[in-house]
Amino acid sequence: MGRSNPSIAALSFFLVFFPITCFKLGKCNSIFCPQIEKQSLLSFKHSLQDPYHQLSSWDDGDVNCCKWNGVVCNNSTGHVHQLHLRGFGLSLRGQINSSLLNLKHLTHLDLSLNNFKQTIPSFFGSFTKLELFNLSFAGFHGVIPHNIGNLSYLRTLDVAGFPNIVPAGHNNYYHSRNLAGYPDMEFAAHVSFPNLLQVDNLEWLSRLSELENLNMNFVNLSRATDWVQVINTLPSLQQLRFQNCSLGYISPLSYINITSLTLLDISSNNFHSTEVPKWIFGLQNLQFLDLRNNTFIGPIPANSNATKLKYIDLSFNFLNSTVPSWLHSCIDLEFIVLDFNFLTGAVPAGFTNLCKTRRLSLSNNNFQGNMSNLFGNMSECFLEALEVLDLQFNKISGQLIDQLGEFKSLEYLNLNKNLLTGPIPASMGKLSSLKVLALGGNKLTQNLPHSLGQLCNLKWIFIFDNKLEGVVTETHFANLTKLDVFSASDNRLSLNVSQSWIPPFQLIALGLGSWSLGAGSKIPSWLETQKNLTDYLDLADTGISGIVPSWFWNTRILNLSHNQLHGEIPDVRGAVQFIYLSSNKLEGTLPRVGDAL
Ligand SMILES: *[C@@H]1O[C@H](CO)[C@@H](O)[C@H](O)[C@H]1NC(C)=O
Ligand SMILES: *[C@@H]1O[C@H](CO)[C@@H](O)[C@H](O)[C@H]1NC(C)=O
Ligand SMILES: *[C@@H]1O[C@H](CO)[C@@H](O)[C@H](O)[C@H]1NC(C)=O
Ligand SMILES: *[C@@H]1O[C@H](CO)[C@@H](O)[C@H](O)[C@H]1NC(C)=O
Ligand SMILES: *[C@@H]1O[C@H](CO)[C@@H](O)[C@H](O)[C@H]1NC(C)=O
Ligand SMILES: *[C@@H]1O[C@H](CO)[C@@H](O)[C@H](O)[C@H]1NC(C)=O
Ligand SMILES: *[C@@H]1O[C@H](CO)[C@@H](O)[C@H](O)[C@H]1NC(C)=O
Ligand SMILES: *[C@@H]1O[C@H](CO)[C@@H](O)[C@H](O)[C@H]1NC(C)=O
Ligand SMILES: *[C@@H]1O[C@H](CO)[C@@H](O)[C@H](O)[C@H]1NC(C)=O
Ligand SMILES: *[C@@H]1O[C@H](CO)[C@@H](O)[C@H](O)[C@H]1NC(C)=O
Ligand SMILES: *[C@@H]1O[C@H](CO)[C@@H](O)[C@H](O)[C@H]1NC(C)=O
Ligand SMILES: *[C@@H]1O[C@H](CO)[C@@H](O)[C@H](O)[C@H]1NC(C)=O
Repeated sequence: MGRSNPSIAALSFFLVFFPITCFKLGKCNSIFCPQIEKQSLLSFKHSLQDPYHQLSSWDDGDVNCCKWNGVVCNNSTGHVHQLHLRGFGLSLRGQINSSLLNLKHLTHLDLSLNNFKQTIPSFFGSFTKLELFNLSFAGFHGVIPHNIGNLSYLRTLDVAGFPNIVPAGHNNYYHSRNLAGYPDMEFAAHVSFPNLLQVDNLEWLSRLSELENLNMNFVNLSRATDWVQVINTLPSLQQLRFQNCSLGYISPLSYINITSLTLLDISSNNFHSTEVPKWIFGLQNLQFLDLRNNTFIGPIPANSNATKLKYIDLSFNFLNSTVPSWLHSCIDLEFIVLDFNFLTGAVPAGFTNLCKTRRLSLSNNNFQGNMSNLFGNMSECFLEALEVLDLQFNKISGQLIDQLGEFKSLEYLNLNKNLLTGPIPASMGKLSSLKVLALGGNKLTQNLPHSLGQLCNLKWIFIFDNKLEGVVTETHFANLTKLDVFSASDNRLSLNVSQSWIPPFQLIALGLGSWSLGAGSKIPSWLETQKNLTDYLDLADTGISGIVPSWFWNTRILNLSHNQLHGEIPDVRGAVQFIYLSSNKLEGTLPRVGDAL
């Protein structure tokens, strides 16, 4: 006893001074946690390493653990009922002390984003009052213990093996271009990561009759072949996330009990050569459906009762039907993502009557049809709402109609690699939110409209490989201060700007292959203002002569072929990956890079 016991000392301090502080600060309702709960929290702390001092407020000398970071007590009883110990990625490490079980009133336990490096302790199944349990990305591995199924009040269970994966946004589009100058779409959000947690079966889940929200993303569920039946026993389930779970089988369901389901994410599994099961579209309350990257084959089911959908992603499958009419009749749809399938037929004009759609992505399919049939009769609200329109790599024909300039919020327009003809309408200069304009790989003709120079938010222009002709001047770029990428090779265009032109932009990629650059076939002097042109430079077949400026040799993809350039090729290394130099008068040894021709 005596002064060596800090908690007794603190208790006497508290007994003497509390009434005064309480009175002065108006905190007379303050409640105190039972000492046994405080002690078990301290045992928990002392069994761990805490390199970022996340638990520094957990002080032995402090009587009231209700004031500690992450600890929440019940206002009337003082019992610890919530522990919020979310880390910063690799924070808390080491053994979880079973003394935590003294917190018998715990309803919320969040241990996410830590690095415990152990199997999930089976005593977790004894927190009988737990309602929310978050073990996501906490460094656990091995088989999830069945007695989690004893937590019969559980409403939320999150054991995701990876931090929240957001669906690939349209801001991730630009990564690289091949030499033809068009972007290789890359969907970076799905990262390869080992599934550290696994299950031997999921039957234990069916005892969690209150469960509303289940996230097992990146847990290896390959042995849970009956997962569909198990899930169907959870009548309260609203959100189910089984992304990247190595699921190989999805069975039919004759009777749906999970009518409350609003979110179903089973993306990135391996349902080889299976049709999309019909029961999914019998889920009447479904709002969010993600089936991407599953090699589903055959049709998008022709019937659906999922009329409340807001988000649907069926991309990266082998779906080969037309778009069923129910899909463009779901009036709440905000995100429609059907890229990378084999869908056929005309893109239904019904899409352009939807009022809330922000993203319509149909790229890399076999869609046909005519621009004017598709966009000739758009509703006002569709024009207001749409932010992303992606029809790249289809077989859409016809002309770019004036109505395309009527979008109010459009940021991303990708019509690359279709069969479009005719001119680029001047009305496109009204798309004031536009960041990406991609019209490459079509058969567009006539001049580039001057109005494009007004698109002050534009970052990337792709108009490569068309039949555009005429003169491009400084006005075409007048207000393009944010332009990063100008990819316009393989047209019949010429550039006519003054000797002293200082462009408003700093490009990282420029394609002017086959252009006529004027000014006596010299390398244009304005290029020297481009201090950031490190990714892509195509000046092939522009008739330029002279000595190659030394900074050209730092560009990742460089095409200078079919010109009159001369001088010595330096020892280029580092940044250069692809270099095309044929048909010039250059001397010296060919550089040792990935691909020198
Ligand atoms: C748990 O805490 C108790 C009391 O502090 C301690 O004796 C025990 O060794 C701890 N267990 C582990 C596994 O750290
Ligand atoms: C606090 O505890 C009382 C008594 O056990 C309980 O009725 C109440 O719901 C609890 N409050 C909260 C917010 O959990
Ligand atoms: C508990 O009391 C604190 C302080 O009086 C208050 O901020 C908090 O909202 C209360 N919590 C509940 C669940 O009543
Ligand atoms: C669980 O924790 C992770 C990481 O802290 C968080 O992103 C996620 O939203 C939490 N899950 C639930 C259901 O609250
Ligand atoms: C908890 O679950 C395990 C395994 O599922 C079981 O053997 C055990 O009897 C359960 N305990 C309680 C108290 O229900
Ligand atoms: C999942 O587990 C199965 C068998 O348990 C194993 O064969 C497979 O390699 C695992 N998959 C991943 C991605 O770890
Ligand atoms: C589904 O609900 C029906 C009717 O309530 C019930 O008979 C059946 O057992 C339930 N099925 C499952 C798998 O829970
Ligand atoms: C597709 O799913 C597999 C796992 O089945 C995953 O490894 C891969 O990263 C996913 N690809 C994409 C583009 O999402
Ligand atoms: C939609 O609901 C009707 C009436 O309950 C039912 O007959 C039909 O099979 C359901 N369709 C789907 C695709 O589940
Ligand atoms: C779709 O693919 C399936 C499976 O390969 C095939 O049997 C069917 O004929 C295809 N349908 C169409 C319309 O191409
Ligand atoms: C460029 O922007 C300025 C200021 O917003 C505007 O006054 C000017 O007319 C614009 N020029 C062109 C060519 O669009
Ligand atoms: C150069 O480009 C990089 C992206 O590649 C960008 O982050 C940076 O801001 C650019 N610098 C200038 C001066 O424009």
